[in-house]
Amino acid sequence: MKAFFVTFEGTEGGGKSTHIKLLAERLRAMNRAVRVLREPGGTPIGEEIRHTLQHSAQNAAMTPEAELLLMNASRAQLVREVIRPALAAGEIVLCDRFYDSTTAYQGYGRELDLATVRQIIDFAVGPTRPDLTLLLHVPLAVSEARRQARQQAGPQRDRMEEADRSFFERVERGFAAIAAAEAARFHRLDATQPIERVREEIWARVRPLAEA
Ligand code: TMP
Repeated sequence: MKAFFVTFEGTEGGGKSTHIKLLAERLRAMNRAVRVLREPGGTPIGEEIRHTLQHSAQNAAMTPEAELLLMNASRAQLVREVIRPALAAGEIVLCDRFYDSTTAYQGYGRELDLATVRQIIDFAVGPTRPDLTLLLHVPLAVSEARRQARQQAGPQRDRMEEADRSFFERVERGFAAIAAAEAARFHRLDATQPIERVREEIWARVRPLAEA
């Protein structure tokens, strides 16, 4: 039974956390050890960086460059502290977002130079790459409604959700560009379908890795 690494991507409202939970349950029912992680975060240092990036009262003036580096500082820690040891121990690693979010949000969304973004990602992750990435796609209107509901209901403000519509349109274009460039690894699923249908489409992609 081989270790493998799956990442989930997409804007808000695609059901990433629900589907990661369902997939983890399915894999654990096969007696596999599964590690569920999220980015930014997933380590004590990473969770502090997440707070700085998203919720800190001091973060309003953060520059896109600082944002890029903090996302990747959290990632560098997660890769070395958790992901590599887990894979070396034969575990399955499921991560809610990974470096494709940086390409989409900081590269396309914040319009930072894509070659620089790629170099910084390469420095943060080295050879640790996902075997499979699943993009849970929903239309912009769905993720917009989700962000608004979270902002109104939640006690915590999230700086990443304060960007305007054109930012999220660019993020979508970023994910589409990655899907076109990396068709062997990166799969876009229609997350507006019923949960059961999306779950089975995810399983069709993960099963060959789980049974290898
Ligand atoms: P979430 O965990 O609630 O999805 O929030 C994470 C936020 O951080 C989300 O708005 C996407 C953003 N993000 C980036 O901009 N770049 C990254 O590299 C990662 C991992 C997340």
